[in-house]
Amino acid sequence: MSDQRVLLQIENLKKYFPVKGDRMFEKKYVQAVESVSFSIYRGETLGIVGESGCGKTTLGRTIIRLYEPTSGRIVYDGTPIYDSEQKIAVNMLPYRRKMQIIFQDPSASLDPRMTVGEIVGEALDIHGLCQGKTERRDRINSLLDEVGLNTEHANRFPHEFSGGQQQRVGIARALAVEPEFIVCDEPISALDVSIQSQVVNMLEDLQNEKHLTYLFIAHDISVVRHISNRIGVMYLGQMVELAESYELCSHPVHPYTQSLLSAVPIPDPDVTRERQRILLEGEIPSPLNPPSGCRFHTRCPYATDRCRQEQPILKEQSPGHFAACHLLDK
Ligand SMILES: Nc1ncnc2c1ncn2[C@@H]1O[C@H](COP(=O)(O)OP(=O)(O)OP(=O)(O)O)[C@@H](O)[C@H]1O
Ligand code: SF4
Ligand SMILES: [Mg+2]
Repeated sequence: MSDQRVLLQIENLKKYFPVKGDRMFEKKYVQAVESVSFSIYRGETLGIVGESGCGKTTLGRTIIRLYEPTSGRIVYDGTPIYDSEQKIAVNMLPYRRKMQIIFQDPSASLDPRMTVGEIVGEALDIHGLCQGKTERRDRINSLLDEVGLNTEHANRFPHEFSGGQQQRVGIARALAVEPEFIVCDEPISALDVSIQSQVVNMLEDLQNEKHLTYLFIAHDISVVRHISNRIGVMYLGQMVELAESYELCSHPVHPYTQSLLSAVPIPDPDVTRERQRILLEGEIPSPLNPPSGCRFHTRCPYATDRCRQEQPILKEQSPGHFAACHLLDK
């Protein structure tokens, strides 16, 4: 459970990717994450949801500086690890022990030339966590055991495993350095439905045992609503709503969240009765050239002239419930 102490504070975080424009020497920028601010509390699971391409992976990787931010501020446990205004960009090696990631595609994230033992052992070696060969072997075996694999698996290569087992290897690799915080980037979306819940249950058990904090990314809100303390909703690189899970699912206030949830069955007849189905028109616009004002205005059924001109700010609408929409201005 969350104990309300802030572990990570993210302020105005931006990540732009430079790409070639249509004309010679023209440079354009994919605005993958645009001025995102929020906190992550120690011990909580913060779910992040949104359509494909809205910037979830980029956000997760930029927070742990696997991608260097374009600008903004990241404070980890009271220490700024990145601050574009103050020109702070700390050496991340000590923080790699604290902040880990489980990748979206387990097969692509494991080096096919390395055995499972080498993959898990590499993290131990980089951080000098074992005194000798025996300690290293014992540590690898106990990590494999913790994720439901066994000792014989250490000598095999990733291609010899199923998708679910490969993801378990990815989890063992992340756990090897005894982190505090893990970005779980759609850890189950590439897996068979039959084993998805096993992996989610294992992640929950590991969180309780090791007091881990998770940023849990999913494109489907139904995947994260039961395991997250809070949920943040992203649209085209921005956070549009953030609240406690039950509050967000039962009283969404942003039109985009309402449309996402209107497609999800909720086992509460009062909530279902109150809710009207909102169908969004059109495709998600390109982050190369995002709409002016509110980025959602091209698809929002309530858009006004103000929405086309002025960007709404993420504001606390009720205690702990944040949303960015002009409709909510009192
Ligand atoms: N290395 C890169 N170079 C250029 N553009 C990129 C790069 N990585 C991501 N993007 C673009 O940034 C935007 C956000 O991508 P991202 O992968 O973060 O989205 P996502 O929400 O994780 O999507 P998905 O649900 O499909 O995983 C997309 O438009 C994507 O094409
Ligand atoms: S600000 Fe306007 S366009 Fe954006 S979500 Fe609110 S009503 Fe819709
Ligand atoms: Mg992604």
